[in-house]
Order: sequence, then C-alpha cells, then structure tokens
Amino acid sequence: MALLDVKDLNVTFSTNDGEVHAVNGINLSLERGETLGIVGESGSGKSQLSFAIMGLLAKNGRATGSVTFDGQEILNAKPKVLNQIRAENIAMIFQDPMTSLNPYMRVSDQMAEVLTLHHGLSKSAAVAESVRMLDAVRIPDAKGRARLYPHEFSGGMRQRVMIAMALLCKPDVLIADEPTTALDVTVQAQIMKLLDDLQSEFGMAMILITHDLGVVAGSCERVMVMYGGRVMERAPTDPLFADPTHPYTQGLLAAIPRVDQKGDKLSAIPGSPPNMSRPPAGCPFAPRCDYVMDICVTAPPPLEGFAPGRDRACYAAIDVVRAGPTHHEDLPMEAAADEMDEQDIGETDPQISEGLVVGPASAGTPQELPDDKR
Ligand SMILES: Nc1ncnc2c1ncn2[C@@H]1O[C@H](COP(=O)(O)OP(=O)(O)OP(=O)(O)O)[C@@H](O)[C@H]1O
Ligand code: SF4
Ligand SMILES: [Mg+2]
Repeated sequence: MALLDVKDLNVTFSTNDGEVHAVNGINLSLERGETLGIVGESGSGKSQLSFAIMGLLAKNGRATGSVTFDGQEILNAKPKVLNQIRAENIAMIFQDPMTSLNPYMRVSDQMAEVLTLHHGLSKSAAVAESVRMLDAVRIPDAKGRARLYPHEFSGGMRQRVMIAMALLCKPDVLIADEPTTALDVTVQAQIMKLLDDLQSEFGMAMILITHDLGVVAGSCERVMVMYGGRVMERAPTDPLFADPTHPYTQGLLAAIPRVDQKGDKLSAIPGSPPNMSRPPAGCPFAPRCDYVMDICVTAPPPLEGFAPGRDRACYAAIDVVRAGPTHHEDLPMEAAADEMDEQDIGETDPQISEGLVVGPASAGTPQELPDDKR
C-alpha cells in the first residue's frame, strides 16, 4: 500500500464566471522516502492539487475523488482529522513564505505554538526544539535569530524558516510548493541541497512542485508533468529527460537554457495555457501542439502506460513524437487559422492565437503541411 494515494482527484472552483476546472482526474501514489517532482506551467493545477490533499482549498473550491494517507481516507475529512494529519503526517512548504508566516509574531513563538498545541510540549521545550530545527536548516545563530520577526529575515532565510516549521513535527510526507522560486540561483541550490539532506535525515517522502524541470532533475526519482489540470506524462526522471514522449514535455525540455548551446535561440512553447473556466473539449495542449490531429479536439486523451513506470496522455504515436516536431514557423497566422478549419480547440487566453501552430488532418499521423506553407 502506498503511503499517499490519490485517485481520480478533481478540483473545481465556483466563480461568477462559472466553474473553474483546476484539477481533472489526477491519480498519483507516493512511497515512503520517495521524491516525486510535479512540473507544469503556471495555472496547470499544481498548487490546487496539493491544497486538496492538505484539505486547504479556498472556500469556493470543491474536491472529489479520493486521497488516502497510510490507508486512511483524508479527502474532505473532518477538521479534527485533517488537523491531526497536518500536525503529524503531511506538511507543506508554501509558494510564498510571507503569506504563511504571521508577520506579528516572533519566529520562535509561531514555531513553538505548533509544538505546544499539537504535541503538548511546554513553551520552553517547544522553543528549544524550534531553535534546534532552525539550526538544522542552517540558519546561523539560530538561537538569536529565533527571536526576530519574519520581515527581519532575507528571502532565502524566510524560506529556511518555512522548511524548519514544516519539519518540526517530523512529517512522513513533505509537499514543497515552489520552495525556491523567489530565490537567486545560489540560494536556490543551497535550499535544494538542504531539502535533499533533510529528506535523507528524516526519511520523509516528498512531493516537489516546480515549473522548472531543471530543479527536479537532481532531486526526484519520478516526475509528473501537468498541463490544464491533467497529467500529460509520468516517468522516472532519467527516462523522462532522455526520451520525452509527450509533446508538452518536449516543449518544456526544449525551453531549459543550456550552456552548451551558445548562440541558439531559446525555444519557448508558443501560446499560453487554456482558460480553465472554459476548458477545451479535447486535449488541453491541442492549441499549442505541433502534432495536433482531428481526434485531439474530440476528447482528452487517456493516460496510458507504455513501459514500466511510464505513462502518457497523447493520441500521437510515440515514434512520431520521438521523431520530433515538424516546424511551421513560416506559416502565416491567417493561413494557420484557416487550416484549423473551425476545429473546436477550446477557449484560450488571447495570446494563444498569436502562437498558433497548425495540426494535421487525420488521427494517428502528424500534420503534413503543403510544401508552399513549410
Ligand atoms: N479560489 C479560486 N477560485 C477560482 N479559481 C482558482 C482559485 N484558486 C485557483 N484557481 C485557479 O486554479 C487553476 C490552477 O491554479 P494553481 O494555483 O494550482 O496553479 P499552479 O500550477 O500552482 O500555478 P503556479 O505555477 O503559478 O503556482 C488556475 O487556473 C487558477 O486561476
Ligand atoms: S498530439 Fe494531440 S493528444 Fe498529443 S499532446 Fe498534441 S494535441 Fe494533445
Ligand atoms: Mg502554484
């Protein structure tokens, strides 16, 4: 039995504009001590997936499906159960430390509160343990700095405080949501090293969320690529990097800057993610995909296994994607729009049409463009 098991998880938000379908039918499992990376562009549903697991969705959010921790169902569980799980088993490092730290309380007081409330420690024992944990995340002069307020720490140090707070209760699972986004590259590397070290020391399982595939490369055993609230591809890290089989993964990998490619243009995926209040009827990546076919706009492709530990949600044949995209850079936009031939590709942000890449005419084969449009 997996330590954390998520089955067919859906998250929707009610808004004045209608329902936002933020997470759509996600399945994942996490074993003890394992690190799973979740990557995907902004808005792909990474944070809402984690909030649903933690029982922390906004008031207008609703989650369906199943989340079990060590066999116990925790999705939509009673507050008492969720509080206990959050205090003892699953902790989260939030994307923005300032929104999760109380600016009016000294760091030592807010950390100690977790231990006095949930673990019955005396105030002095709780403060001592908090200082020990600040020391463990390499905050210099932890004892002296514990008495400071959050705004008196630098961004990198605040992120360390968040990590220390999350680890106070020695969780079985740590969900780290973009733990290094706001930090410069040197501090980012230090924090990632720190998380790796602490994970080995405490034996936790970790879900590491980031939009940066480079960050997961060194830290994760498996990677899950999300787009439009769905899983596009899932694989052990090395095969995913060496042999991406989903067009979106290919695009993400091509967008990683490489020092050995001086002079080459940095490749970006044209367009922008779908508007999840009006999700496309078919594959959410269709409006941006080099391989799009008629079938892609009819229904979302199912996530299917094709090798041990490897799954993909794509109608295009693996070999076709492996062969690489046909580039249509010279195709005029008007012609591109005509070629889409009124396919229902779903509504996207307006910029998407600017980078529209036209798809093929029939299912199973990449699009063949007429010679004069290549
Ligand atoms: N309270 C809410 N009401 C309506 N929509 C919401 C709410 N919270 C989140 N969303 C929407 O849910 C979708 C997924 O958001 P989420 O925060 O999970 O993205 P993300 O992948 O974490 O992005 P980022 O990389 O920017 O953090 C987005 O379209 C977002 O606008
Ligand atoms: S080929 Fe079709 S199913 Fe595959 S990613 Fe492109 S649009 Fe989606
Ligand atoms: Mg997020």
